[in-house]
Amino acid sequence: MTKVLRNPQISADRYIEEQIIKIRETVGNGQVLLALSGGVDCSVCAAILSKAIGKQLTCIFVDHGFMRKNEAEEVENAFSGRDINLIIVNAEDRFLKKISGVTDPELKRKIIGEEFIRVFEEESKKLGTVNFLAQGTIYSDVIESDTAVKSHHNVGGLPEQIGFKGIIEPVRDLYKNEVREIGAMLGLPDYLVNRKTFPGPGLAIRIIGEVTKERLDILREADYIFRKELEALEINKDISMCFAILSDMRAVGVKDGKRTYGYVAALRSVITSDYMNAEFAKIPYEVLEKVSERITSEVAGISRVVYDITNKPPGTIEWE
Ligand code: XMP
Repeated sequence: MTKVLRNPQISADRYIEEQIIKIRETVGNGQVLLALSGGVDCSVCAAILSKAIGKQLTCIFVDHGFMRKNEAEEVENAFSGRDINLIIVNAEDRFLKKISGVTDPELKRKIIGEEFIRVFEEESKKLGTVNFLAQGTIYSDVIESDTAVKSHHNVGGLPEQIGFKGIIEPVRDLYKNEVREIGAMLGLPDYLVNRKTFPGPGLAIRIIGEVTKERLDILREADYIFRKELEALEINKDISMCFAILSDMRAVGVKDGKRTYGYVAALRSVITSDYMNAEFAKIPYEVLEKVSERITSEVAGISRVVYDITNKPPGTIEWE
């Protein structure tokens, strides 16, 4: 039987059973709301709640338009067949409008965070009385919020703003690897269970300068090529995050004998256990070469590709 690692006395299936009992006791006939982002923590939270209370759970997935390629569809596919109410809000235009012309990264974060709360509030009001808010808080979030290390990274503010009777956090006692183990046991697809960390504001903070639909689409393609090429490699299982960044710099290139003047894209791939320190992944040159060749030939708008060899510190993981 699989073990939940932090507490070897409790197996993963026992943990799920205990949570189901606890959730049913707390919720009774009430209604529960969960913001689904596509991340592993809230996905596993949704899967446990679905088993415990079925359609008393409503999940709202706000697609802000800053997701990676195919991601919104993947979330929809993973949950549309489950015993929950799933509301998908396509809010791309709305977010793009709000963020139009904004280049300051902190302002991007603030606008996206606030708009997210607004959309979530609007949707939850349509549901009538909702008694509980569920959250995918995990053990490391609890420790980090105690020491306020990552407070600026959390969306926050939802419970205060909407006024629920209580909060339900079924994966609060677990480390990330345990959350993944439970997710797999609950039958969530591999792409959700083993999803690498992705920031709330998504690709908006991986586009240096103005975020437009066109620039998002360019970044999405480059990012997808990089991730897909790495997926096949042995080193991929050690890599904590890998992604592309679209810079606001342009460089001259040559394509089909013609001069091009496209964006410089950067590739970032790091290995870390705590996200406070990280080292850049030592990806073989041949792989980087293939990724660079594919991006420059397949993605119109990018003429040059660089690999970020900065550790954290002194660099951060994200560029903004
Ligand atoms: P940095 O760039 O600070 O990243 O080295 C550390 C981890 O935090 C994530 N990160 C964010 N997550 N909203 C989030 O939800 C944010 O605004 C944000 N900024 C950074 C980053 O992806 C990495 O995992």
